[in-house]
Amino acid sequence: MKVLHVSAECYPAAKAGGLGDVVGALPKYLSRIGCPTGVVIPKYSVKWINEHSFRTIYRGTIRLHHHYIPFSIEQESSNSLEFPLFVANIPGKFDREGIYTDASGRGYFDEMERALCFQQAVLQWILNSPGKPSIIHCHDHHTGLIPFMMKYCPEYQGLQHIPTVFTIHNGAYHGAVGWDKMYLLPFFQAEARGLLDWRNTINPLATAVKCAWRVTTVSPSYLEELKHNSNGMELLLQHEQHKCQGVLNGIDAQVWDPKKDKYIAMPWSDSLAAFKEANKKVIGQRFKVDLRLPLITFIGRLVGEKGADLLPDLISRVLQSGMNVAFAILGTGQQNIHHALQHLSYNFPGRFDVVLEYNEGLAHQLYAGSDFLIMPSRVEPCGLNQMYAMRYGTVPIVRSVGGLRDTVPDVGMPDNSGRGIRFDHFNLKDGHLAIYRALELYNNRPFFETVREHITTIDFSWEKSASTYLNIYQEMINL
Ligand code: GLC
Repeated sequence: MKVLHVSAECYPAAKAGGLGDVVGALPKYLSRIGCPTGVVIPKYSVKWINEHSFRTIYRGTIRLHHHYIPFSIEQESSNSLEFPLFVANIPGKFDREGIYTDASGRGYFDEMERALCFQQAVLQWILNSPGKPSIIHCHDHHTGLIPFMMKYCPEYQGLQHIPTVFTIHNGAYHGAVGWDKMYLLPFFQAEARGLLDWRNTINPLATAVKCAWRVTTVSPSYLEELKHNSNGMELLLQHEQHKCQGVLNGIDAQVWDPKKDKYIAMPWSDSLAAFKEANKKVIGQRFKVDLRLPLITFIGRLVGEKGADLLPDLISRVLQSGMNVAFAILGTGQQNIHHALQHLSYNFPGRFDVVLEYNEGLAHQLYAGSDFLIMPSRVEPCGLNQMYAMRYGTVPIVRSVGGLRDTVPDVGMPDNSGRGIRFDHFNLKDGHLAIYRALELYNNRPFFETVREHITTIDFSWEKSASTYLNIYQEMINL
């Protein structure tokens, strides 16, 4: 069986967030359990892609309204990943430095055009390839029209027998556009028009949920949440629930291995306490905070969805209340949050610092050297950072949503299964209490050490999830 993943991101070639991590890891683990898997992404003008060579395996032209756009599908020549990586080279559309946004952080004006070019390039290539995949697995709204096009566009109907899986990594983005953009779509059967529509827009996410053979979300709790709160798509998910399943993501235990990690100052060889201490010291090179205090870190996109807008007020409330703790934040995102955090670092020298960068290496160092990782997310479809943190002995403080709920039982659980601190409501009071509880845990040294040891031993590897996906694929093929 051959599976082709179609995605906007794939680590290490092009990553903006967790989607990239997942699409860079799952194919590897599927291949290892005997399911050959490839990935196709757009050819962006990003570092990794610019530094690798590709050979053209298909050339074609797609039509977008009156425009004929030439493209090629290329395969990475040295096969440096553990699976074949293909890129769709569509000049004028993807040869830009940002994946979704330009250098100033603004989303591209032609998102729909780009997505349509990419999806059609992939379908045309598959249609004309001798060895077709047995399964097409699409991720998020950028690839959400593929299951529709395979069924209802005469041009691609030759592929209608191939089962499709659609995974929702982030249901907040639908990729919706007005019906005035209909002229951009390839010709489709008129009676299928309703499948494109959700609340009077062309909605690729909703279309995928309706048309894919199977739909997965990246954690079981997130699927439940989407049925009750998904930007107006609740009824659709309830209606389609028979084909939906939540499959928890894993983490790439090769990339995230505290014993072999090349990004960190001191890989783990001796005791956990020594590993944490040595790596905490190094953090002082980038973050001007008092490292004798317990250190709480936030790593990630500074956006509302991740709850980053709660942090400035929460941190100043905690520090003003006199708690003995220091904070470090690494990430980029909304300008107003950048400003608030910079301001905070002037107000609390030695207790709070921020590095406004996307920096993979520094992130690894923070996981290794921090005591706690805070994730106050409003929504969290799965969340990978809490799993990276646990593997590196950093105790998560999380809001009880989505995948955070599924992966971080509270240390207050009587059966000792606890892995971190959880809080329910997205407000300062609950956040403050969670940090208070974290410090209480920190000061209860023997218990803190036990929790810390315990979380490093949890198996978050992809093997389990990969075999769940394999079952899903097999069920479809046997249909
Ligand atoms: C998105 C979600 C995140 C999830 C990731 C990978 O980035 O926001 O929660 O872990 O996709 O599935």
